[in-house]
Formats: sequence, C-alpha cells, structure tokens
Amino acid sequence: MKTIVANWKMNGSLDLLNQAMEAWQLKSGTNKVILCLPSVFLSAAHTLLRQPNFFLGGQDCHAALQGAFTGDTSAHHLYDAGCRYVLVGHSERRQHHHESNAMVKAKAQAAVAAGLTPIICVGESLEQREQGLALSVLQEQVEQSIPDNATDFYVAYEPIWAIGTGRVAALEDIQQVHAFLKQQLGVGVKLLYGGSVTADNHAFILSLENVDGVLVGGASLKIDDLGKMVRF
Ligand code: PGA
Repeated sequence: MKTIVANWKMNGSLDLLNQAMEAWQLKSGTNKVILCLPSVFLSAAHTLLRQPNFFLGGQDCHAALQGAFTGDTSAHHLYDAGCRYVLVGHSERRQHHHESNAMVKAKAQAAVAAGLTPIICVGESLEQREQGLALSVLQEQVEQSIPDNATDFYVAYEPIWAIGTGRVAALEDIQQVHAFLKQQLGVGVKLLYGGSVTADNHAFILSLENVDGVLVGGASLKIDDLGKMVRF
C-alpha cells in the first residue's frame, strides 16, 4: 500500500470538499490517503470522512504547543480537529516564511508531542541541482530538520523546481535521491516524492524502488484525478 498525500495549499473550497467526499463515499481505494486541507476545513472534513484508509493532515503547525501567537495553528489544535499528520518544512514555508531547518525541526517536535506524525519536506533548488549540490543540500536538510530519536515520520523529497511547474523530476533522479535518503536515514523510513505528480505520471513514480508514496499539490484539487491515484 502506497501513501498519497493531497496538499490543497491555500486552494479549494468547502464546496469542493463536499463534492470530493460525495464522490469518494463508496470507494475507499487501495492506497492510504492523507488529505492536507486548509485548516478551516479540517473539522468539517473530519465529520464527513468515513473511509478507514483516509486520514487528515495539517499543512503547517507552530513550533510552540500553545501561546500568544495570533493567527497560528498549534499541533494540538490540528489533533483536536481530527488530524493525525502534518506537513512541516514545505518549500513554500521555507521560502515565504523564512523557515530554517532548526524551525522545521522544532515544528516536527511539536507535532510528535501532540500525537501527530510529521511529514518533513526537503528539496533542492534548481541552482543547487545544476551546481551538483543536490545530495549535500538534502543531507544537511535531513540532518537538521528531523528531530533526534524520531521514529514515526515521513520525509517528502520535493525538488523546488518541480513544484507547480509541470516539470517532474527525471525518474533516475528520483531513484538516486530516494536511494541516498534511505541510506542516510535507514530502510525503514517512509519516503514520498512530490513535485508535479499527476494522474498520468503517478504510477511510474510509485513503481520506483524506495518510493513509498507521493505528495500531490495541483492535481489533488481535481477530484477524478485524485481518485485515480487513490485506486492505483
Ligand atoms: P504540485 O505541488 O503537485 O502542484 O507540484 C506539490 C507540493 O508542493 O506539495
């Protein structure tokens, strides 16, 4: 069984959520699904979700478990709303909110403390790849972003240049990075690939060795396409 993580980012609507839930009501599919929805929709999704292989995830959490942080969402709140997973360190957070590896690690720690499984995102920029630095950048990211002694977590490899661009990484590159990450982190670690995954290319990616699942952005907003990936 592979894991399909749907990351709606700041997209979608309650209407789309309702349509999706209706469409999937009688089909649970063969893959595990983690829906990372805008946080305001999580409670509604929690009351609608019926399939045993579907789970909810947040898209980010604060590093503190509570406090005077107006506008932020704690890992506890996500758990309360029905989440069992949370993305941390997505490149859009690292880029637009200047999140360092240390911050990502603190968020992953908060997630674990609240009972959530963190999905820790890493990925190199195009410039870093072209300079031959991809593996060293990834090594540094995983060394500094994963909490010490963490046992239950996912790592999502998302090359920044492949996110939302329609430019999926070459299968050999995905394979090379995933083999490298398994070697660094141990064979038991669960690795996802993300970046321009679609209903058309997901099967090739999921068939690669060391790929335990995919993290899907844009295509996860298309109900039929996500359905195809879930039933792979
Ligand atoms: P994408 O996004 O599938 O639209 O490329 C992936 C992600 O950012 O998680």
